[in-house]
Amino acid sequence: MKKKTVQDTTSHLEEGLSRRRFLEYGLGIGKAVFIGGLLVGNFAGCTTASKKGSERKAGRKRSIKLAHITDTHVTFVGKNGTALKEESFDIFRDIIDQVNNMPDIDFILFGGDNINNSDPGTEGFDEFMKIVSGVRVPYFAQFGNREVSPIPPGIALSKEQYAGRMKGHGLDSGRYSWNVSPVSGLRILGLDTTIEGHDNGEITKEGVNWIKEQISKYPDDKIITLSHHLLLPTWGNRNIPKWRKKYLLKNYQEVNALLGSAPQVKACLTGHHHISKIQTVEGLHYIASPATVQYPHAFRTITINDNEAKLEFHQVRDKRIVELGKSNLLTSKNAEEYAGGSAGDILAYCYGGESDNNVTLKLR
Ligand SMILES: [Fe+2]
Repeated sequence: MKKKTVQDTTSHLEEGLSRRRFLEYGLGIGKAVFIGGLLVGNFAGCTTASKKGSERKAGRKRSIKLAHITDTHVTFVGKNGTALKEESFDIFRDIIDQVNNMPDIDFILFGGDNINNSDPGTEGFDEFMKIVSGVRVPYFAQFGNREVSPIPPGIALSKEQYAGRMKGHGLDSGRYSWNVSPVSGLRILGLDTTIEGHDNGEITKEGVNWIKEQISKYPDDKIITLSHHLLLPTWGNRNIPKWRKKYLLKNYQEVNALLGSAPQVKACLTGHHHISKIQTVEGLHYIASPATVQYPHAFRTITINDNEAKLEFHQVRDKRIVELGKSNLLTSKNAEEYAGGSAGDILAYCYGGESDNNVTLKLR
């Protein structure tokens, strides 16, 4: 029997995507469209999807493109520091505008710390939802530590309240880990890595068992995971115990052994550390994406085409914000901890290299 906090939301969400495509192409019930090279049809109001080899003939696009947007930390409260809180909504509006102007985008994954959750009541959340209401593709969200650690507690949104208000976008009341299949053959597992009231992360025993169930249930789908905390240390050989505790999933080795042993799991998307980094272990890609609220103020798009994933890096378009973020990061505690306060290392670490940002990965 399924646990309360982890559920399958496939049919509802497949329906959501097909509706958008039906509107886009002006098709009705009983007809079909291609998404990512797959034929998706809505028959008598019930969505189904099946592979089709003649997509080229039909003239539809063959790939599927998603945006991974994480650590937006939108808020009306607080001053600019390493995170540009005062600019957070302007940055977010610009990012969403960029996505809305991508003609081939299929859906968005929000990786957590979507809201800073430091605004009294629901002011910050309401503005976030107002902005995403203008998104023209389906979107799905996972928790970050901010969504489960309101400041001050009891005034901002709780974990359960946030989940309930995200109903229809992966999360729901009592549903903290979720799976969606935005297109037949591709499945996103949204993993809850949060610990209520804390910044560090762990996947509970129940969560680990749920992953096992999903893996055995969907042996033939391409699976991508979406979660907030890092699944691998990204700081190389540097010994930074504080970072290990704060950013790295407590039971990352257990979780990686599980994900690594399932060949259908192709990539794991994370955020939280506000850096761009790709690490590949036995063909499984661990993709940490940058924050929008902190330098480099960027997000990724990932275009999946057969057995390849093309990653692209997109920064906020306002250069003033990028320069301010860069300057604030250089004088931050993170810079001190990482580079002894001396410098550019931290900028390069957060920004990532070309092989982290604009690269085509082979899917195992
Ligand atoms: Fe975070």
